[in-house]
Amino acid sequence: MIETKAVILSGGKGTRLRPITHTSAKQLVPIANRPILFYGIEAIKEAGITDIGIVVGDTADEIEEAVGDGSRFGVEVTYIRQEAPLGLAHAVKISRDFVGTDRFIVYLGDNLVLDGIRAFVDRFTENEPNCQILLAHVSNPQNFGVAELDGERVARLVEKPSEPKTDLALVGVYMFDETVFEATESIKPSWRGELEITDAIQYLIEKGANVQSQIITGWWKDTGKLGDMLEANRMLLERLESKIDGEVDDRSTIDGRVIIEKGSTIRNSVLRGPLIIGENTTVTDSYVGPFTSINYNVEIRGSEIEHSIVLEDSRILDVGGRIEGSLVGKNVVIEKHSAKPRAYRFMVGDYSRIELE
Ligand code: TTP
Repeated sequence: MIETKAVILSGGKGTRLRPITHTSAKQLVPIANRPILFYGIEAIKEAGITDIGIVVGDTADEIEEAVGDGSRFGVEVTYIRQEAPLGLAHAVKISRDFVGTDRFIVYLGDNLVLDGIRAFVDRFTENEPNCQILLAHVSNPQNFGVAELDGERVARLVEKPSEPKTDLALVGVYMFDETVFEATESIKPSWRGELEITDAIQYLIEKGANVQSQIITGWWKDTGKLGDMLEANRMLLERLESKIDGEVDDRSTIDGRVIIEKGSTIRNSVLRGPLIIGENTTVTDSYVGPFTSINYNVEIRGSEIEHSIVLEDSRILDVGGRIEGSLVGKNVVIEKHSAKPRAYRFMVGDYSRIELE
């Protein structure tokens, strides 16, 4: 029997998420306090695939440390080193030794498919096309790779068309058999210097390969940009159940679905879920509003925050106005001082963004 493997792409440049990606892998940014990548690994496992290759780039060490050999997810992970982010089809090309002659799924490590991929994988295994892509109806197809169909067969793929013929965008999950390697060996880099996955699939179509599609009805997101990451955070928080393992004093109010992990303390504060507070975090004299994920070892004092993600070891102290729609990295301090002269003082990394009221 031909086995089905999976290749998760977790290299890349991550330019749209700078400065976070200057120091960390974007696939490890926590959504509802768990790295995005973990949801992908779980979705693949849930679809019955346990042999997983992870393509890694500059952030290889960090990803290997977080995922390890995969045993805690019940899968076996092989790391595939990509020397530079030369494109999605390049990442597929270098996975050839790992894949061998098996069929395989390619999953973009920063994508989230809320209802999983089982139905998609089952259909691929049953019908055995050369390639199967996942499509979604979107309101702004000019920002995506767009598919034109002939029944369920894919007739043409166009990357970011100025006048899209359909609203069907490519979702970051693809399935192939070994014929894709003929495409990845033959195509040339695009204007941006990358081997494009759309070009590889278009090559297969032109060679008469059987390229099928399936339209996804559930929620999915490419979390490569801040707004999309916050939306993914919102979707996942809405699915969590309340659980309070930390300490909440009697001057605090908790509304809605709230998770407070052990070792955390909430004093004289209002928490309005859905939200999650990680381990060993303190929230004092503050408001934490809906769709907020605060990671571990964070201190929030005298501040208001909602619809945001705060990573570990950061401190938000005495900020007067409300913080919203924000992604705060690790070990960040945001603090209001009363010292004279009154002024804004910053030490901000390259490509940071600050919006003041
Ligand atoms: P993208 O988000 O399309 O590209 P990127 O990571 O370079 O980000 P940006 O556009 O903001 O600069 O990549 C999708 C996924 O594929 C992501 O998890 C990174 C991964 N990837 C690779 O592993 N190798 C590559 O060569 C590229 C381009 C992406």
